[in-house]
Amino acid sequence: MKEVKLKRIGIKSYDRFYPVFRRALLTDFLHLPLRRKKYFLRKIWSKKNFKKRFKRGKIGIFSVRKDKTIAFIVVSSEIGGISLLRWIWVDKNFRNKGIGKRLVKRGEKWAQTKNCHKLRFITDGRNRGFYLKLGFVIEGIRKKDRYKKDFYLFGKFI
Ligand SMILES: CC(C)(COP(=O)(O)OP(=O)(O)OC[C@H]1O[C@@H](n2cnc3c(N)ncnc32)[C@H](O)[C@@H]1OP(=O)(O)O)[C@@H](O)C(=O)NCCC(=O)NCCS
Repeated sequence: MKEVKLKRIGIKSYDRFYPVFRRALLTDFLHLPLRRKKYFLRKIWSKKNFKKRFKRGKIGIFSVRKDKTIAFIVVSSEIGGISLLRWIWVDKNFRNKGIGKRLVKRGEKWAQTKNCHKLRFITDGRNRGFYLKLGFVIEGIRKKDRYKKDFYLFGKFI
């Protein structure tokens, strides 16, 4: 889907981005129970804490807009050259059009600028096919882990 623009979120757009993130987290990301999402929004990913990390340059946010924000990716830069894919979301009306793929590529580029050599994350198997298509490998599986679900450790050298 080439006609939609992928943009980096700057600090000025953060206030507009956050409600989209909040809504997406509450309605999608079905591997997380609601109580966990609410905890995230109150603590680690509260508007204030998220902004703090963002201001320190530890977080890269990229979004796609088409009248409104229809997709975003959040990647972080961690110690030891590791980047974490924190959040990726595409509005359900715009899925399977290549937007998620473009976002991951952009996130990888950002991570490289932060001298990261590897992008990784943990998630359930729901979108496994998507990540495998993007070149991630499954480095391990945590069986019957949180909420008695299997969690996959995905990694990719970038
Ligand atoms: C996962 C998600 C980001 C994928 O975004 P998307 O824009 O639909 O993905 P793309 O269109 O870029 O897909 C790229 C490729 O992966 C495939 N793909 C996409 N989702 C897939 C899935 N769930 N399972 C298997 N393959 C998938 C596409 O068919 C496409 O294949 P192709 O290159 O052969 O055409 C999107 O479904 C989403 O936002 N889901 C809800 C939020 C969420 O679950 N986030 C991730 C939490 S781990």
